[in-house]
Amino acid sequence: MAESLSLTAHATRAERYAELLPQIEALIGPEPDLIANLANIAAVLKEGLGFFWVGFYLRQGDELVLGPFQGPLACTRIALGRGVCGTAAAERRTVLVPDVEAFPGHIACSSLSRSEIVVPLVTEDRCELVLDVDSSELNDFSPVDAEALERLIALIARQHYRSSAR
Ligand code: SME
Repeated sequence: MAESLSLTAHATRAERYAELLPQIEALIGPEPDLIANLANIAAVLKEGLGFFWVGFYLRQGDELVLGPFQGPLACTRIALGRGVCGTAAAERRTVLVPDVEAFPGHIACSSLSRSEIVVPLVTEDRCELVLDVDSSELNDFSPVDAEALERLIALIARQHYRSSAR
């Protein structure tokens, strides 16, 4: 297992994803435990991209429950359909929020979070978990993030849910 990340200085966001995704694949490939892998993925995204908060919420019944994350403490339970995470899970689609204050029902775990992207992992029409990334910058996410994070979620799906549904 790689014990440190290889990061190019001054990389663009797209370049950074391009160098991180193969490293994440190599990191999680040999490890069968989902939680261990989600924990390291959160660490890699936080360290490699410097986001304010990176983490996972795992589906339990009608709720999302906080899983591995990096950043300030966060709310532990989110009902499906509530907030950005619950919306992404209920609608089974990536939700990109340029300004969290303009998103109806946004759940503010920290007033420092200004923009957010949430990508669900969907297998057989069921959302199993979501990846939530928060930035302290307004309008910090674009289709570059959506595409890269969806590819990351597909890696997790293939390894842990035997599906490449996303
Ligand atoms: N803002 C999220 C809640 C989770 S935190 O950002 C870590 C939401 O509206 O679902």
